[in-house]
Amino acid sequence: MLKFDFSTYVDSFINKEELDDLLEKKDNIFEKFNNDYMTGWTKQIDEDVIKNIIRVSEKIKSNSECLVVIGIGGSFLGACAFQEMFSRYFNNDNFKVIFAGTTYSSKYMTELLEYLENVDFSLNVISKSGTTMETNITYHYIKELMKKKYSDEEIKDRIIMTTDKVKGKLREEVNDIGYESFEIPDDIGGRYSFMTPAHLLPLALNYDIEKIVEGYYSGSDFINTAYKYACIRNLLFNKGKYVENFCVSEANMVYFQEWLKQLFGETEGKNRVGILPMSTLYTRDLHSLGQFIQEGNNIIFETFIKVEKSNELKYEDSDLHSINNLVIDSVMRAHNKGDVPCNIITMDEVSLENVSSLMYFFMLSAAFSGYLFGVDPFNQPGVEVYKEEVRNSLNKG
Ligand code: PA5
Repeated sequence: MLKFDFSTYVDSFINKEELDDLLEKKDNIFEKFNNDYMTGWTKQIDEDVIKNIIRVSEKIKSNSECLVVIGIGGSFLGACAFQEMFSRYFNNDNFKVIFAGTTYSSKYMTELLEYLENVDFSLNVISKSGTTMETNITYHYIKELMKKKYSDEEIKDRIIMTTDKVKGKLREEVNDIGYESFEIPDDIGGRYSFMTPAHLLPLALNYDIEKIVEGYYSGSDFINTAYKYACIRNLLFNKGKYVENFCVSEANMVYFQEWLKQLFGETEGKNRVGILPMSTLYTRDLHSLGQFIQEGNNIIFETFIKVEKSNELKYEDSDLHSINNLVIDSVMRAHNKGDVPCNIITMDEVSLENVSSLMYFFMLSAAFSGYLFGVDPFNQPGVEVYKEEVRNSLNKG
């Protein structure tokens, strides 16, 4: 169950009439959304795709000790967030899934290759475009290692491509060699691709993806709340609150924050508008950024993601999780006194269904927010600029 409070620590910063005006635009925004081609992520995923994901995940488990997933941005953050949230901190006995290809670090690559030399692994290359350089370079190194370790037939059995249905280098390779493959549908962009094989295959190794699917679509119950959240963020931006700080108090939600930053950053940050997303883990960051948030440049609002129930662990007359939440409530009051509006989203517990549903909520809200800012929520033209510079430099060098 999810609960939303965009009122207690926000109302005093918002003009009610302005909010009502924005809320009245809902039908227009929903119409735009419904007519937007890139909303394939709201359609029900095919049952056969789920069955195929489960089949391939069983095959990976039968011939490998680990799965290496190569992908960047929207191609990996959702699965990575789930893996972090639903693994034990210590003595983790999950099937090993390694996310690679997110930097050009030669140290990381060398050590990854050294590690993989001695384990049997499968490889899932995820790229919708097939042109992402980080992904392609990482693939190159791992494929070279595979050629030393495995026969052509074994390699064919161990590589799974997740890419566009027809376009791109990876699809060409699938057509040539016959690797197992999955499609990222045409009408779903990277950061909205949680409900596709890009995320569901890595997750199927350890989690009940049927629960994840069920939870995801139940997020549509919050469509009006998602629109309200988008409106509130928009009004706060207009009041000079240019930065949204996503706050958690569970240390295994840091990749979830990374997913949020990518979702909102790439969706809104265009045409010189958009809210800059940042993240803090409390209470750790109260001893660093807390000072700035309380008394520094007054451009921040916060969105807290709270968890009602967790492990029971007595501490004197109370228990540790209640103390955690009590501290977070106190932080909100303190920050509010420092002129920081605070939205609150509460999960009754961290479950596959709740987190999946929350992701759908945020995706809806990010898309609505894009329209409110007057930008296309589903493109990311700015990302191309750095890629072009890199290509130019490499060609010169
Ligand atoms: O959200 C997005 O669209 C991007 O972050 C992409 O997912 C990322 O750039 C990777 O692209 P691709 O899947 O084409 O390799």
